[in-house]
Amino acid sequence: MTTWKEQLEFDRRHIWHPYASLANPPPVRMAESANGVELRLMDGRTLIDAVSSWWCAAHGHNHPEIVGAIRRQTEKLSHVMFGGFTHEPAVELAQALIKLTPPGLDRVFFADSGSISVEVAAKMAVQYQHSLGFPAKGKLLALKGGYHGDTCCAMALSDPDGMHTLFRQIMPRHYFADPFDFESVRSVYAEHGDEIAAIICEPIFQAANAMRFYPPEFLRQLRRFCDEHGLLLIFDEIAAGFYRTGPLWAGDHAGAVPDIMTVGKALTGGHITLAATVASAKVAETISAGHPGAFMHGPTYMANPIACAAGVASLRLFQTSDYAAKVAAIESRLNAGLVECRHLPNVTDVRVMGAVGIVEVATMPARTDIERVIDRHGVWLRPFCNFIYTMPPLVSDSSTVDRITAAIRELASCAPGPQTADGDFHE
Ligand SMILES: Cc1ncc(COP(=O)(O)O)c(C=O)c1O
Repeated sequence: MTTWKEQLEFDRRHIWHPYASLANPPPVRMAESANGVELRLMDGRTLIDAVSSWWCAAHGHNHPEIVGAIRRQTEKLSHVMFGGFTHEPAVELAQALIKLTPPGLDRVFFADSGSISVEVAAKMAVQYQHSLGFPAKGKLLALKGGYHGDTCCAMALSDPDGMHTLFRQIMPRHYFADPFDFESVRSVYAEHGDEIAAIICEPIFQAANAMRFYPPEFLRQLRRFCDEHGLLLIFDEIAAGFYRTGPLWAGDHAGAVPDIMTVGKALTGGHITLAATVASAKVAETISAGHPGAFMHGPTYMANPIACAAGVASLRLFQTSDYAAKVAAIESRLNAGLVECRHLPNVTDVRVMGAVGIVEVATMPARTDIERVIDRHGVWLRPFCNFIYTMPPLVSDSSTVDRITAAIRELASCAPGPQTADGDFHE
C-alpha cells in the first residue's frame, strides 16, 4: 500500500499527462473526489472547477442522477458488443438525442470520444459522396483557427498552423478557409471543389485552438453554399453544444441546421467518455444505397451501455433544467467580473459569450504565478497559449462565478512570464 504522495511521485515518473513532458512534467494535483462545482484534493483542499474538467461537467461533478444511472446500469449490463446486439440505454439515448438535435437529424452513430465522432463524421461525408458517384471527393474544407481533436483525421481538420504541425507527415491534407471572410470559402472551392466532400466547422465558437467567436452570418452562408454545391455541412458541437454559448446548440445562433452534427463532452455531463455523430436521413440513405452500403466504422466499445445510461440521465437534466436562464445569468456575471481586465497592460482582449469567458493576454504569466493564483483563490484554471479562460459548470451560481472572475483578474494582472517554447501552454 503506497501513500498518495508516493503515488504522486510514481505518476510524475511514469504516467503521461495531456500535452506534457515526462522529463520535465508540469505540476499535477491529486484529486480525491468531486461534488457539484468543486474538486477535492488528497490534501483536503478544494478547488472550484472553472474549466468543467475540459468543458464536460455541465451539471456539476458526481451528479446523483447520473451516478445512480451508471450504478444501476453497471449491475445489469456493463457491456455487450454493438455488432449483433442493441440495448435499452442505446435506444433511449438515441431517442433523446433525436429529440434535442435540430429537426432532420435522426440517424445516430455512437463513438467513444469527441475525436472519434469527428473521424466518423468525415468518413460519412466521404462515403456519402462516394455513394453518389464522386469517389474523388475525399477532402474536407475546414476553418483556420479550428480544433476537432487529436486523432489523425481530426488533427488534419484542425488549424494547419496549430499545435499539430509536428505531425504534418502523417496527416491527410485538407483545405482551409477563414471564418471572417466568406470569399475565402469561395476561392478554396473554386480551386479544389472537385475534391471536397463537406465543410466542417465549430459553429460560432472556435474553442481549443483560437478561443474566439465568429459571426452567425458566416454559418448561414455556409449552409447556402453547401446546398448550392452538393456539399455536406458538418457542425462540431462537441465544445459549444449543450447551452455552452447560450442556446442549446451554437448553430442555433444562426438558425442553421447541418447535415451531420458531432456531440460529446457534456453528453454524459463529464461522467464517462461518450460522443455521437448524428446525421440526416439523406446522408444515411445515400450511404446505404451506395457500395458497400454498410457504413464502414465500428469501434469495440461502441454504444457502451454504462456510458449510454449516463448520457440518458444527462440529457434528461438538459431537458428538465432551465439552462438557458442559468447560462444567461452566468454570462452577465462573467461580463461584470471580467470587463475591468480590458484595462490591464498585458490584456489584449476580453470576450464573453454564454458560459464562456476569455481574457486574452499578450504573454502568459509565469507558471509559478498561475499555480499561486489557483492555490490562493481555490479556483482551478487551465490557461493555454495566450488565453486565460473559464467555462464553468452550467450550475455555477453567482458567487462561484465571482470567485472565478476574481482569480482570472488576478492572473491577468500578473506580469508577463518568460516566453515559453511553443507547446508549453497548449490546452
Ligand atoms: C470542438 C471539439 N471537437 C473535438 C474535440 C475532441 O474531443 P475529445 O477530446 O473527446 O476527443 C474537442 C476537444 O476539446 C473539441 O473541442
